[in-house]
Amino acid sequence: MKILAIESSCDETAVAVVEDGRKVLSDCISSQVDKHAIYGGVVPEIASRCHVEAIAYLAGQALQEAGISKKEIDAVAVTYAPGLIGALLVGVNFAKSCAFELGVPLIPVHHIRGHIAANYLAYPELEPPFLCLAISGGNTMLVRVDGYTDMRIIGCTRDDAAGECFDKTARVLGLPYPGGKPVEKLAAGGDDSRYVFPIAHVADNEFDMSFSGLKTAVINLVHNCEQSGKELDRASLAASFTKAISDSLVPRTILAAEKFGYSDLVVAGGVAANKRIRSDFSEACGSRGINLYIPPIRLCGDNGAMIGAQAYYEFLAGHTAGTDLNAYANMDI
Ligand code: KG4
Repeated sequence: MKILAIESSCDETAVAVVEDGRKVLSDCISSQVDKHAIYGGVVPEIASRCHVEAIAYLAGQALQEAGISKKEIDAVAVTYAPGLIGALLVGVNFAKSCAFELGVPLIPVHHIRGHIAANYLAYPELEPPFLCLAISGGNTMLVRVDGYTDMRIIGCTRDDAAGECFDKTARVLGLPYPGGKPVEKLAAGGDDSRYVFPIAHVADNEFDMSFSGLKTAVINLVHNCEQSGKELDRASLAASFTKAISDSLVPRTILAAEKFGYSDLVVAGGVAANKRIRSDFSEACGSRGINLYIPPIRLCGDNGAMIGAQAYYEFLAGHTAGTDLNAYANMDI
């Protein structure tokens, strides 16, 4: 089954063709990062307008790279939640028109389910059940994945997402948006024990997380140094900050895997590209006999292929939509 998959929830327009949920025939992405970088973050209206400009061209390119014609498409899938509402609506409306014109089913896909499914593309042997930590720019959550469409959140951030925290740290250090990669690069030359940042624990759920205190601590440290004229060791700040994020994510995730008896652990989303976080997970899982799956860097960020992968399993579960499909800024997984 060949699925044309569309992703437009934030600042990447992406269209892919995926066969039977596991084989990527094409995966085209148009990034808007340059357009938003001058503002230090995503400007929703600019995002929507960039999607409008790129989406039809990208769909043509995805078909061409897959080497197939429109008539060979068996279904159209689209991210319909969560995300920036105007951005989502562009993808949803385009997908509806495609499905209507081709006379094929329309499959709505939850964005975080897509991030999780990126791992099916990288690891042919991977199948549920497993525990997943999804860490992206807008979401940070621990999910029990007991079937391809059977998922339950057991913990999530109470405030900022881990990626948002990277972006704000980059901003206060004068680094470009999105901040994850530049902070990672800066941290490479730093001492992660130079600054001690808070790691929050949420009283009534050991698997919930909080990053706003860490973000504030970073901002305060930078401002205090600026005001007092004290020298700031920027590389060590980046390294200590990344350690704090990792120390907040890794032990909690391992605890959840052990508590609920999962021997397979999946990490997904843009922040999963971070080398320090990847190696901390690798070390923690290795010493406990937990099988770790993290997508290759190119599949960590937003892409269309991951939507096509999850869409196949949504279709098998009978999850299709009519032409009245809407988009939602927030939605439980
Ligand atoms: O999954 P994603 O591409 O988009 C969302 O669905 O949100 O995640 C984007 C987030 C941004 O906050 C970005 O700064 C972060 O992922 N990110 C990283 C790295 N690469 C991207 N964070 C830490 N280290 C990285 N290498």
